[in-house]
Formats: sequence, C-alpha cells, structure tokens
Amino acid sequence: MQDYREFLEEILIPADTLQERIRELGQEISRDYAGKDLLLVCILRGGVMFLTDLMRSIDVPHNIEFMAISSYGTGARESSGNVQIKLDLATPIEDRNVLIVEDIIDSGHTLTSVINFLNTRRPKSLRICALLDKVERREVEVPIDYRGFTIPNKFVFGYGLDLDEYYRDLPFIGVVRTDKLQGVE
Ligand code: IMP
Ligand code: MG
Repeated sequence: MQDYREFLEEILIPADTLQERIRELGQEISRDYAGKDLLLVCILRGGVMFLTDLMRSIDVPHNIEFMAISSYGTGARESSGNVQIKLDLATPIEDRNVLIVEDIIDSGHTLTSVINFLNTRRPKSLRICALLDKVERREVEVPIDYRGFTIPNKFVFGYGLDLDEYYRDLPFIGVVRTDKLQGVE
C-alpha cells in the first residue's frame, strides 16, 4: 500500500483542531448527562478514534459498546441505503441513555437504520454524536445532537475514516485527491 501522501489533497482538519473540538463536545456531553446513566455506542470501524478521544473528555461515569454496520464496501463511495447489522451490541439497552458515536454522516441512511433498529429495544433516550457532518449530501434527515464539524462534499480520510480500509490511523482529517478516486467505483 502506498504512503497516504499520494492520496492527500489537503489537510481539512488538523489534529489539534480535532482534539480541541472533541474536548468541547466531551464537556457538553458531561454537563448534559451529569447524574444520569450513559452508554456510548460506537459505530465500528470509523468511530473508534473519535470514541477513544471523546470518552477521555467525558467526566461522567459511562459504559461503551460497539456495533458494526455495512453501508458500503471497499471501493464503493456511496451508501446504498441497504444497511446491514454486522455486529450487534453485547448488552441490553432497555432504559439506558444511549449516545451513538459516529464518524461521519453523509446521506444519513446508515444512521437512520441504526436509530430505527436501536429504538425497537426501548432505550430511555437515544441521541447522536457525529464528528463530521457532510450536510450537502443528506438524503434523509438525521437529528444530530452533538456535531463536531460541518464539512464540504468531499471524500475525506484519516482519524478513523478509511480510504479502502487504510489510513484510519492518521491523526487529522484529510481530503482525498479527486484524481485518485476516479475509476475505483
Ligand atoms: P451514510 O449512510 O451515507 O450517511 O454513510 C455513512 C458512512 O459512510 C460513514 O459511517 C462512513 O463509514 C462512510 N463515509 C461517508 N463519507 C465518507 C468519507 O468522506 N470518507 C470515508 N467514509 C465515509
Ligand atoms: Mg467506510
């Protein structure tokens, strides 16, 4: 696999800006859930970097859980709207205050399916925390309670987000060069 620099158009959100905003989100969440039970549900795999930084900024006791969804596979750039649960939660969420931790909301199909699926289990509350909001691409409305950044309609990678399953480890959010995206779908 090539070095990430071959695919990088520009750094959209530098590491220190990400960290600063995530600290703010953590403080906001801590205020809102003070004295309440809290369960963070991370959507794998893209949400994992965000989860681990966010939870270090949340100072109310909380649990973490993981779910994996297939929205689009390697090489594809568009969510199909045909979403499958690949990994389910290991614990019940009935009567819990659930906060979904997601990397990016694009068309909104993935999160809409997750919300509908989790609501059948009757959590006490269900909110959404998304690091990135690609709002121009929205096809179905998603109620985002905590939003890190609104970003333009560009394919991004790094900080949990992949380019064909690579480069999730980068500490910043980068824009993928458009000439590198062509011909892959
Ligand atoms: P949606 O169902 O269209 O909202 O797609 C959401 C999912 O698509 C996210 O959880 C990401 O895994 C993926 N995704 C959307 N946009 C990007 C991007 O720019 N880079 C990497 N993954 C993306
Ligand atoms: Mg992906």
